[in-house]
Amino acid sequence: MTKIKNICCIGAGYVGGPTMAVIAQKCPGIKVTVVDINAERIQQWQTDDLPIYEPGLLEVVKEARGRNLFFSTDIDKGIREAEMIFMSVNTPTKTYGVGKGRAADLKFVELSARKIAEVSTTDKIVVEKSTLPVRTAQSIKAILSEQTRDVKFQVLSNPEFLAEGTAINDLHAPDRVLIGGDQTPEGLAAIDALTEIYACWVHPEKIIQTRLWSSELSKLAANAFLAQRISSINSISALCEITGADVDEVAYAIGTDTRIGPKFLKASVGFGGSCFQKDILNLVYLCEYFGLPEVAAYWEQVVVMNDYQKRRFAQNIIQELFNTVSGKKICLLGWAFKKDTNDTRESAAIYVTDHLLNDLAQVSVYDPQVPTRAMYADMNYLQTRSAAENEQLLDVHKDPYEAAKGAHAIAVITEWDEFRTYDWQRIYDNMEKPAFLFDGRNLLDHKMLREIGFRVKAIGKGEE
Ligand code: NAD
Ligand code: UDX
Repeated sequence: MTKIKNICCIGAGYVGGPTMAVIAQKCPGIKVTVVDINAERIQQWQTDDLPIYEPGLLEVVKEARGRNLFFSTDIDKGIREAEMIFMSVNTPTKTYGVGKGRAADLKFVELSARKIAEVSTTDKIVVEKSTLPVRTAQSIKAILSEQTRDVKFQVLSNPEFLAEGTAINDLHAPDRVLIGGDQTPEGLAAIDALTEIYACWVHPEKIIQTRLWSSELSKLAANAFLAQRISSINSISALCEITGADVDEVAYAIGTDTRIGPKFLKASVGFGGSCFQKDILNLVYLCEYFGLPEVAAYWEQVVVMNDYQKRRFAQNIIQELFNTVSGKKICLLGWAFKKDTNDTRESAAIYVTDHLLNDLAQVSVYDPQVPTRAMYADMNYLQTRSAAENEQLLDVHKDPYEAAKGAHAIAVITEWDEFRTYDWQRIYDNMEKPAFLFDGRNLLDHKMLREIGFRVKAIGKGEE
């Protein structure tokens, strides 16, 4: 069996960075080099001001960096020196051409595969770490086989199940590690080589070995199942609001059935993040491609329900504020798609803001980790209005009390822990009355807020 001494990871993002840092931490005998075309990102990985915010990440990086963990823009050298290469590049939804708005854009994966084919001079195991549509490995193999040297490649699928905000914990103690490969002697040997790396810290029983296609499909399916639970509870939240039921009580009552379980049943303003929507749409596209329109429609509804939930939240705000928010200041607490990350991809904040700005509200935002320029970039990307208009209507603050000053309403978008500890009396005193609070995460103590004088509206809760 090949003993791996050198690993290269293409892509130093939210997955490549933390995953490789943990492999380097747990396997000091293996040299791990993370490469990226983004020179600024690579430079940041070399400082203590890492490009991504993730609790516990800096400590892990500091332990291994310079010892057996390296960040570089020299992609060719990284590939050439490694026996095993992880592909951890982004696979966003296509924004053009065939499959636009649904299929995964695999151009970065293809470019990486071409690069590996071009520069490799020795045999390699290529590991799909990115989330990919089932049967992508076939295309990767085809590209890799198009080289003139006599280099042999094995392609494995090793999807990543970490969630942002808890990445280090998830990597240190995963529920499982999934490795798929060809069921040939060479394929099985490659599976074993990767298994041996994870076995440095993961119990062998938690390492699942499968066929290549099962592994690729399991990742899309797992995300679809998780997101489906959120859309299910969010659909019930709408019914709760008109019937007087309380969605947190309903979720608890449902979740105590062990066949269902309590996790991923927290009603919210809608799920965000770079994965769920993209991966479900990818699954929908695959089902359509393979002639399964009913299956496609079934999964697409998970995304439709999520769009509805975000829109419903914004419409509720407008309706409660006497059907007009024009010129009114509305303060958003949180911009990240969940707490403990600076990632804003597909965050509900973007869509809620877009709805509010369409009604000419003045939106002011505070988020503890998201940089101002990321918020404007998110809004400009939508192309609903010009950058100048976004700048005029959207204000970003470094202090939550300033953000809320003079506001007619506050909307909690992200479940940051610090929001609970604010001086809510002080915030109330400086707001326009009646002071509304829309809790998109059911995060705060509503009884306390009502005693202060806030008019509280929460997800899945009617008049309390
Ligand atoms: P990301 O955008 O943070 O990182 C991808 C990196 O790849 C970028 O830094 C980019 O510059 C680099 N890159 C792109 N093309 C390249 C090339 N040809 N050569 C070198 N570098 C290149 O993305 P991410 O969040 O880390 O996601 C990566 C993959 O992992 C995606 O397929 C995603 O679906 C999957 N995934 C993400 C998460 C998550 O929580 N973010 C979890 C599990 C799986
Ligand atoms: C997800 C998957 O959980 C992870 O396994 C996969 O590898 C990558 O995609 P991530 O997007 O980082 O991870 O975050 P996750 O914790 O799944 O949350 C996604 C969204 O759902 C967030 O906006 C979160 O706030 C929301 N959510 C989550 C809810 O609204 N309710 C819940 O009960 C759980």
